[in-house]
Amino acid sequence: MGYAMDHLVFATHNQDKLKEVQQLIGNHIRLLSLDDIGCNEEIPETATTIQGNAEIKANFVYKHYQYNCFADDTGLEIDALGGEPGVYSARYGGENCSYQDNVNKVLSNLLHVQNRKASFVTCICLIINQQVTFFEGRVKGTITSQPRGEKGFGYDPVFLPDGYKKTYAELTLSEKNKISHRSQAVQQLITFLNHGK
Ligand code: IMP
Repeated sequence: MGYAMDHLVFATHNQDKLKEVQQLIGNHIRLLSLDDIGCNEEIPETATTIQGNAEIKANFVYKHYQYNCFADDTGLEIDALGGEPGVYSARYGGENCSYQDNVNKVLSNLLHVQNRKASFVTCICLIINQQVTFFEGRVKGTITSQPRGEKGFGYDPVFLPDGYKKTYAELTLSEKNKISHRSQAVQQLITFLNHGK
C-alpha cells in the first residue's frame, strides 16, 4: 500500500536537485522546495554524520512548517582517510571553497597512498505523519590519481565507480543517474512512497 498525498516537501533550495528528483518521482506527487514553503534560510547542518544531517533538515521542516517532507545529504568516504571527507564533503577545502579545492585536497592527501578505495553515500530522511524512515544509496569505487572528465560536479572527476573504466565525470548524466548513490537512495524512497514498507 502506498501513501496517498498530492504534495511533499523536499528540504532543498537547489532547483536542479528538485527537478531531477521530481522527474524520478513522477507527476502524482508534486515536490515543493524550501523556497516554495517560504523557508528562505539555510538550515544549519551541524551533525557529525551524513544520516544526522539529513535528519536535522527533515526535522527542521516538519517542526517549523508542519509539512510531510524529506531531506538528503551526501558525502564521499575515503577508506585510507578514515572516512574523510564524509559529512564535511562540501567544505573539505575550507569555508567557501570550490569543487576544485576539494578535489585538490583529496588528491594531495592521497599522494603516494596505495589504498584508494572510497564510497559515495547518500542518505535520505523522510518524515510522514511523524514517522521517520531512512534510505541509503552507496556506490563503491576508487579515487584516481588525476582528475578525468568534464561532466558532473564535485568529486566526479576523481571517482571511478567499481566495474567502470570511466570516472563519474566521464559518464553522461543519464549513465551516472543509472548507477549513482543519489539515484539509488531516491529509488528506495519512491518504492516506499508507492508501496509502503
Ligand atoms: P549534498 O549533501 O548533496 O549537498 O552534497 C555535499 C557535497 O558532496 C557536495 O558539495 C559535493 O562536493 C559532494 N557531492 C554530492 N553529490 C555528489 C556527486 O554526485 N558527485 C560528486 N560530488 C558530489
